[in-house]
Amino acid sequence: MKRIPILMDCDPGHDDAIAIILALSSEKLNVLGITTACGNQTIEKTTKNAQGICEFLGRRDIPIAKGRNAPLLTPVYTAGIAHGESGLDGPKLPEPVAPLQEESAVVFMAKKIESADEPVTLVPTGPLTNIATLILCYPHLIPKIGQIVLMGGSIVSGCSGRGASEFNIMVDPYAADIVFTSGVPIVMMGLDVTNYTTIGFDEKEKFRAAGRVGTLVADLADFFGRGFEMVGWCGVPVHDACTVAYLIDPSLFTMKEMNVRIDLTGEFTMGSTVGDYCGAEGREANALVGISSDRERFVELLLNACASYGKGDKEDE
Ligand code: BDR
Ligand code: CA
Repeated sequence: MKRIPILMDCDPGHDDAIAIILALSSEKLNVLGITTACGNQTIEKTTKNAQGICEFLGRRDIPIAKGRNAPLLTPVYTAGIAHGESGLDGPKLPEPVAPLQEESAVVFMAKKIESADEPVTLVPTGPLTNIATLILCYPHLIPKIGQIVLMGGSIVSGCSGRGASEFNIMVDPYAADIVFTSGVPIVMMGLDVTNYTTIGFDEKEKFRAAGRVGTLVADLADFFGRGFEMVGWCGVPVHDACTVAYLIDPSLFTMKEMNVRIDLTGEFTMGSTVGDYCGAEGREANALVGISSDRERFVELLLNACASYGKGDKEDE
């Protein structure tokens, strides 16, 4: 089976970490590298977290390149309240051993895309700073970006405290605008679908039973789920992993094509993703937007992914 070549651009982050776990387990994907964004925590912290996850998974072969240390035009805005001081509070990860790439995230991505023999899929799960910079600096590579499957935005709901904006878009709205008007096909997994694509609070034990990677996912869900449990939410949203799950099995999601633009001027709504949901405005579609998911099958996919890491360990014992 031909694997889909992907570059992951992330800001780990508990759900980014789970997205990485899912991607690196899949036989359908070929992860060409991981680049880091400043979002859930500072760039130093998100980069160390990406390295820690790969080290935990025994994947020193995955190249990791550090991204820009701030959004394009707006101040750094982190999410310690959700992800803790380290950006990945809760489970203890090993210290990174494999060195970072010498080049920056954007140069690294450009080289990978340039040398690929087929279009590469970008999978951003943090603010879109690096992706927008790539588009601006390497316009000749745009045709070689197959699609951008991103976690960000929301069409009918928001939870950032700034109107209907979602964290990743709100942190760097100008970058998001560049991406959404780039002409590259976009798959948008926003809060409309990711808020409900959850690990149930009572499902964490199943993950623990799936081995050390499953236990890590349960521990990540423990920390990230605190706030959600407090407000009586239906489970722990695994926002970022929806992007990877879509690439592995698109039938898990109901999608709708529409035009999505970024609000860059609203006093209370800056960073909102404004979707022409019913086509009433007649704006040409630029995104395929996640509307709903088959949560049970998503959890099954994730559980199998966790268990797949254990295969072989038994023989080694
Ligand atoms: C997004 O914000 C971050 O905190 C998560 O990692 C996810 O990418 C959800 O709004
Ligand atoms: Ca993220």
